[in-house]
Amino acid sequence: MSDLSDLLANNRRWAGEIERSYPGFFTQLAQQQAPQYLWIGCSDSRVPANQIVDLLPGAIFVHRNVANQVHHADLNCLSVLHFAVNSLRVRDIIVCGHYRCGGVKAVLESVLEEKDHGLLDHWLRPLAEVYHRHTELFDGLPLPARMDALCELNVIEQAEHVCSTPVVQQAWRAGQDLSVHGLIYGVEDGLLRGLDLHINGPAALEPRYRQAVAGVLQRAGARANTE
Ligand code: CO
Repeated sequence: MSDLSDLLANNRRWAGEIERSYPGFFTQLAQQQAPQYLWIGCSDSRVPANQIVDLLPGAIFVHRNVANQVHHADLNCLSVLHFAVNSLRVRDIIVCGHYRCGGVKAVLESVLEEKDHGLLDHWLRPLAEVYHRHTELFDGLPLPARMDALCELNVIEQAEHVCSTPVVQQAWRAGQDLSVHGLIYGVEDGLLRGLDLHINGPAALEPRYRQAVAGVLQRAGARANTE
């Protein structure tokens, strides 16, 4: 059994390096956190929030779960959202998905092959419904392109859920400066890509959502043609 001594040694080295580069960093940060961003991402070990955008501790408030889901009855995610918006007053909420997402793959397998993933199928049932609601995006696409399209669509749908929560709706009504964004990360190249989705108020939601979904369709068509 590992006693995690390698992790503790890594940690001491890391904290020392930060302290050398930014003297007083931790004592200052201990006073309070004031992150600009809330990150809602996938639990996947290859998509660590702070690291891929090269930000230090204190910059991002993070919630991660399998396949970056935002369910309207998920008290965990909603509590994070509530605290981030009302107490920390973050300015940007980022829903970040990623290509080759195991959760998204599980959804396709259960939809197309009736494969059983146990509890995961329950967690991801809303995403299976998203797939069924947007069959026009997937019909005729080869499997890899279908997978990419569902990874992208998942981000857009979850960002839409964030915008529809009473927390965000109330913040917008109160005139709070708050935007919701959709990003997707390539585990194969380490690059983040925008999904043309930036929503800064209720009026922007529907047109931006539709534009982003049209973008998924467009990219899927382009991918299918090159395959
Ligand atoms: Co994932």
